[in-house]
Amino acid sequence: MNTGQAQGQPLRISMNWNTHKRPILALSPMADMTDSAFCRTVRFVMDSNAVHMPVVFREMVSAEAVTRGNSRTLNMTSIHPDERPIIQQLFGSSPEVMAEAVKKIEAEHHPEGFDINMGCPVYKIVNNFNGAALMKEPELAQQIVRAMKAVTTLPISVKIRAGWDDPNQCFAFAKVLEQAGADMITIHGRTKIQGYSGTSDWDLIKQLKQTVTIPLLANGDIHTAPLAVEALNVTGCDGVSIARGALGNPWIFKQINDLLEGKTPEIITLTERIRVIKQHLNFHTEEYGEMGVITFRKHLSWYFRGIDGAKPYKLRLHTTLAVSEVHAILDEMAEKGLENDGLSSRDANHPQASTRTQMSK
Ligand SMILES: Cc1cc2nc3c(=O)[nH]c(=O)nc-3n(C[C@H](O)[C@H](O)[C@H](O)COP(=O)(O)O)c2cc1C
Repeated sequence: MNTGQAQGQPLRISMNWNTHKRPILALSPMADMTDSAFCRTVRFVMDSNAVHMPVVFREMVSAEAVTRGNSRTLNMTSIHPDERPIIQQLFGSSPEVMAEAVKKIEAEHHPEGFDINMGCPVYKIVNNFNGAALMKEPELAQQIVRAMKAVTTLPISVKIRAGWDDPNQCFAFAKVLEQAGADMITIHGRTKIQGYSGTSDWDLIKQLKQTVTIPLLANGDIHTAPLAVEALNVTGCDGVSIARGALGNPWIFKQINDLLEGKTPEIITLTERIRVIKQHLNFHTEEYGEMGVITFRKHLSWYFRGIDGAKPYKLRLHTTLAVSEVHAILDEMAEKGLENDGLSSRDANHPQASTRTQMSK
């Protein structure tokens, strides 16, 4: 990756999906989760000399809201230098509005690239022909990609599902995106109708990889570092995109890097978990103020998911209103310790780490 800095602009990393180091590791966009504070945390836990640094995808924002001048939405796209490279995801169904939003965000915050949400199954999104509904509108999807490409030189990627109701829809749809000039595709191997039921079909992703000419990232059910390596092997994709597996588990990318480098990943001890939670909380309250303690509770739930003996602490953490209270509970936990030193079931060293399991949202 080259770096370049136009005068008066923040240091932006030059991104090219074709030449980016393989395999690509990506933090998948998650609404209310992959904000600046979380993306900074993902980078914070990486060794600075890691060979495979993750690319972070920030949560989707409404192109409509950005172009209407909604300052809260535009602020959601601001970037801390430590997060780069970051890809900003947009949702919308009007090619003109999507292009306008790209211009506005690029001028304001200079992300390294944009991603289009064509996979979200949530009713309030698909109801307006956004998200996965675009998989039923290939011509409109093409117009959106073309309109965005026309206003920027930054890479434009697209996140899709296997299909709306038929998992074979992704084959024709990916072709359509390629023809429109999309630079990369991420596929979640479930249909919109499936939601989060069943499993992400990694064999289908493998078949898609054999038919596309642009880089493809596999997504869905990659919840531990060993599963990431397995997904890369099974699908033959250019990389993996990880969503829920990174929640409360930002170390997943460091652990994948270690496995890819032939090293045994370090166990995430309780001490390390608490150190990173405190740092994440610090980033979070920097972004949202002291009341961020309340919005941070969702992260605390994830940090202690699948950890034996953490439940009583979790219950207490969920009533905290001040950073000092969170610290006090974490310090007490560190002092008393947890079973198995707080080994998470998602740690690469856990006996279950190579088993695909259902994970709730
Ligand atoms: C809380 C949450 C929010 C999400 N928000 C987005 C989003 O903003 N844009 C998007 O394309 N996908 C979104 N997704 C979908 C994920 O990026 C990913 O495709 C899906 O969770 C499957 O991957 P996983 O098994 O690694 O979680 C979201 C998922 C979760 C759990």
